[in-house]
Amino acid sequence: MEKLVIQGGKPLQGEVRISGAKNAALPLIAATLLAPGTHILHNVPDLRDTRTILKLLENLGVTWTRKDTTLMIDSTHVTYSEASYDLVKTMRASVLVLGPLLARLGRAKVSLPGGCAIGARPINFHIKGFEQLGVTCRLENGYVDAEIAGRMQGNVIYFDVPSVTGTENLLMAAVMAKGKTVIKNAAREPEIGNLIDMLKDMGAEIMGRDTDRLEIYGVDRLSAATCSIIPDRIETGTYLIAVGATGGEATVTGCNPAHLPSLLEKLRATGMEIREMEDSIAVSARRCSGNSILKSIDIKTMPYPGYPTDLQAQFMALMALSSGVCVINETIFENRFMHVGELQRMGADIRTNGHTAVVYGKGMKGLSGAPVMATDLRASSSLVIAGLAASGRTEISRIYHLERGYEQMVEKLTILGAEVWKEQE
Ligand code: EPZ
Repeated sequence: MEKLVIQGGKPLQGEVRISGAKNAALPLIAATLLAPGTHILHNVPDLRDTRTILKLLENLGVTWTRKDTTLMIDSTHVTYSEASYDLVKTMRASVLVLGPLLARLGRAKVSLPGGCAIGARPINFHIKGFEQLGVTCRLENGYVDAEIAGRMQGNVIYFDVPSVTGTENLLMAAVMAKGKTVIKNAAREPEIGNLIDMLKDMGAEIMGRDTDRLEIYGVDRLSAATCSIIPDRIETGTYLIAVGATGGEATVTGCNPAHLPSLLEKLRATGMEIREMEDSIAVSARRCSGNSILKSIDIKTMPYPGYPTDLQAQFMALMALSSGVCVINETIFENRFMHVGELQRMGADIRTNGHTAVVYGKGMKGLSGAPVMATDLRASSSLVIAGLAASGRTEISRIYHLERGYEQMVEKLTILGAEVWKEQE
């Protein structure tokens, strides 16, 4: 296995380009199952997770080619098959094939994803929604075996919690159902708007984009789509925070500032300078370098447009370098503090109690390099940020977690002046 080695202490500077969003690419690739023909998707990141879902679609009869960041996906010959445990356990977003397969074939058998480092990650809301559309779902031997004779029937679906992939799965199931489907308390993440745009390009009739109430009027058939993946707002936030942690100054390009309302306000509150342009963000933490004036700011993770849970670990690394005390409240997942122990190995002073962490900032020079271990995708990016800011050498093992969601991170950080490379464990 490979590890990432970082010689820290260098302020990041220059320009870095953001890739397409992992959490938009996954549902949009799954959505190609809905209609025969060749779909064209632009700005698709080349990640472990996108390669995984493409492998899953190949097992279902799909063929595809890639030219730079454009994918041509031919889903003319979708045949029934199972999404097996060995594939789904590596990426729970594989459950996103359920909705489109039920709409296209009336059958789908997908392994239950099981838990992951950050929580139990159940899919009960997805299953309840399918059953409300008339699907029979049998849970046996660790699989969900879903089936319906004929077309699904529109209904009113209410989510107890605004589930992102739950909303995406039910959207894809409902677009060819008979009649009208209403999804109440739907998630409002920008990736869902991206999916709605693609489905409409295919001929779907959907109202309520960007709201928590979606209305879908079922159509008889759909055709192949041409669309673009939105920029990755979590990758964008990760690089902005990394510039802040190293007291640097940089421009993040190919991004959409409007997708990060909460993070940008929080970064400004720390004392960082943030300038938003049409498709780029200029960030400076020059004033925060030296002996820290990075202010300690509380965050509480919430569904969009609140503070994103996927940027909680990264912000915690930043707050470990701040000049005071702050409280971080994780309300979405039950176990998303796996990075705390590793940050503590680097000198961070963090106390956790259930869903709450109290961070006692040590100042911009407060962290020192150490061997640490990545546990999940966003925790690993938090350790990279800490390593970039720490004095000395940091080694991060199990970096396959990182490669699930960050395209060419070593290359991008090197362009920004970081001293970072990969070595064999
Ligand atoms: C999506 O996961 C993202 N993944 C996650 O990003 C992200 O952290 C999460 O949304 C929250 O924003 C993708 O889009 C591929 P949820 P998802 O359903 O859809 C509970 C990353 O790092 N819940 O919105 O699985 C659930 O346990 C990943 O890129 C149920 O109880 O999350 C959680 O507490 C990590 N039953 C809450 O709802 C269900 O049926 C929100 O989960 C579904 C969800």
